[in-house]
Amino acid sequence: MIRFDCDYLEGAHPKILKRLVETNYIQQAGYSKDDYTKSAIEKIKKSLNNDNVDIHILAGGTQTNMIAISSALRSYQGVICADTGHINVHETGAIESLGNKIITIENEFGKINANQIEKIVKEHYQEDAPEHMVMPKLVFITLPTECGTNYTKCEIEEIYNVCKKYDMYLYIDGARLGYGLCAKDTDIVFEDLPNICDFFYIGGTKCGAMFGEALVIVNDKLKKDFRYYIKQKGALLAKGRLLGIQFDTLFTNDLYFCICRQAVELSLKLKNAFIEKGYKLAYNSFTNQQFIIMSKERYNKLSDKFVFFKWKNIDDESLIVRICTSWATTQENVDELICNL
Ligand SMILES: Cc1ncc(COP(=O)(O)O)c(C=O)c1O
Repeated sequence: MIRFDCDYLEGAHPKILKRLVETNYIQQAGYSKDDYTKSAIEKIKKSLNNDNVDIHILAGGTQTNMIAISSALRSYQGVICADTGHINVHETGAIESLGNKIITIENEFGKINANQIEKIVKEHYQEDAPEHMVMPKLVFITLPTECGTNYTKCEIEEIYNVCKKYDMYLYIDGARLGYGLCAKDTDIVFEDLPNICDFFYIGGTKCGAMFGEALVIVNDKLKKDFRYYIKQKGALLAKGRLLGIQFDTLFTNDLYFCICRQAVELSLKLKNAFIEKGYKLAYNSFTNQQFIIMSKERYNKLSDKFVFFKWKNIDDESLIVRICTSWATTQENVDELICNL
C-alpha cells in the first residue's frame, strides 16, 4: 500500500538520524540546557532575524498548544478559535481540561477573520455584566489551516490589530508552518512571524523531525517563568538534546524550508493531476494537503492500492478525501497515484 493519509508516516530526515548517531555518546546537560538546543535556538533566532524572542522546544503539537495557551490565560479567560480549529476538534479537550473555555466562531475554508473576532469581543464588553461570562483573551489560528488554506500577511495583521485593541493575545499553531510558508497563496515570510503575533510554534513533527515543535514567544509578558510551567506540565524532556539536535539540523543550510518546498511541489503536482482528470476540490489548497471530492466507488477502487484520509462524508455516493505529501514523499509514489487516477 502507498500511503498519503497524513504527513507523519515516516521517521525522520536522514540528516537528523545521522547527527543523532554521530552525537550519541557525547555527554550533554539535560533538560534543554545542552549545546545542540542552544545552537538550534540561535539558528532559529537568526532565521527569524530576531534576537528578542524566547524559544522552547517541546515534543508534540497538542502538548505545545496546551502549554502555550493555558500559560497565557487565567481561569476565567477563554480562547477564540475557528470551529474547525485543531484545539477545538482534535485535542481531546486538552485546553478545557485545564479550565479554559474555547469560544468557537464559524470558519470559512478553515479561516476566521478580524471582523468576526471583533464582533464577539465587542458583544462581550457591551454586556451590562461581562464578568458573568468568559472573557475572550486569546485568538488561536493555524498557519496553514486544517483545510490546507493560508492566511495572507494583511489578514493576520488585521486579526492582530483587533487583539491589541482589546488586550488579547494572538497565537499561531504552526504544525505545518514550513508547508504553509512555501505555498504561493501567502505573502508571509518566516521573519514576519514575530511581528504579527504574540507567540507561535514551528512544527517539526510533520516537517522532517522525528518529533518536536519549537515554540517561539515574542511578547515579554508571556515569557516569564515559562520553564517552570513546562516542567509542571511534564513536558521538560530530560534528554532535551534529542529535540535540540533535530531543530539544529532542520535550521542548518535551510533544510527545513528545502524539504517543505519539495513536499508542496509534489502536492501541487497531485492537485493538478486530479483537476486534469476531472475531480473537484473541496478547498483550494496550495500547501501539502489536498482535499479531493471523490465518488465512493472511485475511492474504494483506489483503496486497493492507496491509503487516503476520509475527511468528510458528502452523501451516499461521494466523500472528501485528504491527501498529504510530506518531506519524505517520493516522486515515484506520486507518479504511481497519478497513473491510477
Ligand atoms: C494544526 C495542528 N495542530 C496540532 C496538531 C497536534 O499535533 P500532535 O498530534 O503532535 O499532538 C496537529 C496534528 O495533526 C495539527 O494538524
